Amino acid sequence: MSRQAFNMFITGASGSGKTTYLHEVIRAGKNRCLFDVCINTSRQLSEFYTHRYYLGHEQLSRRYDPAKLADLIRAQRSIHFEVAPGDGVYEFMNSLGQACMSLGQFETRYGLVRITVDEAQNFLPKHNMPPGMKRVEAEGRKYGVDIIKVTPVFGSTGDDTVDSAAYKQATRIAIFPMGEQRQRERVMQTWPEIPDPGTFKYPNPQTKRPGEYAVYDRLTGRGVVARLAPDGSRYLEKIGAWRQA
Ligand SMILES: Nc1ncnc2c1ncn2[C@@H]1O[C@H](COP(=O)(O)OP(=O)(O)OP(=O)(O)O)[C@@H](O)[C@H]1O
Ligand SMILES: [Mg+2]
Repeated sequence: MSRQAFNMFITGASGSGKTTYLHEVIRAGKNRCLFDVCINTSRQLSEFYTHRYYLGHEQLSRRYDPAKLADLIRAQRSIHFEVAPGDGVYEFMNSLGQACMSLGQFETRYGLVRITVDEAQNFLPKHNMPPGMKRVEAEGRKYGVDIIKVTPVFGSTGDDTVDSAAYKQATRIAIFPMGEQRQRERVMQTWPEIPDPGTFKYPNPQTKRPGEYAVYDRLTGRGVVARLAPDGSRYLEKIGAWRQA
């Protein structure tokens, strides 16, 4: 039996708690992958990786050979890439996708590679999705290649958003508070089990109080909304297809 896919999509407004939640996701999955790669536009999350690279415009103007990138990941196992958005990102992400697929194995029972992409609208953009990453989305599941994507922009009509391939294959969805009407509607249309994220409370950086969010698993059809009681304690509200006990 091949293993279940882990393809996660996380969205919510700016400052809604996405990256903070990602800390938990990254920690929880650490021992379930052999090779762990993160791509971000900043140094955020680099503390979870043993090797760190900065790719500015100069580095990105080089061509990254997928085989050499695969060798690097194989040797170092845990890598954070801080990548300057703009020219060269498309080629780099294309090579990275190919490299990660080459590290996978057909019908493996194990998680081999995990790719975590924060600020994914820069790396998996609408109308310009690198083919190597499209392949991870379509076939990563069969090869033990997991992917986690985080973006504040979802369902916007503009270009500053992720390609639909970045959320259509996702089996686990996490939705954080959002105010923008169009984005809220898009979430509810795409995953009808998820309630209006306009009702979710934002985290409070001053008081350190966490916010509210929904996590929905498309494989089981079940999810929860992590709510906050007035006294600050958490309670879970079930959503989707839970059978009555
Ligand atoms: N679970 C939490 N507990 C306490 N505070 C939190 C929690 N989640 C988020 N915060 C607070 O909210 C702030 C914003 O959170 P975070 O950076 O995770 O949001 P984000 O959605 O990634 O925002 P952006 O889109 O700007 O990257 C954090 O600096 C932190 O102070
Ligand atoms: Mg963030």
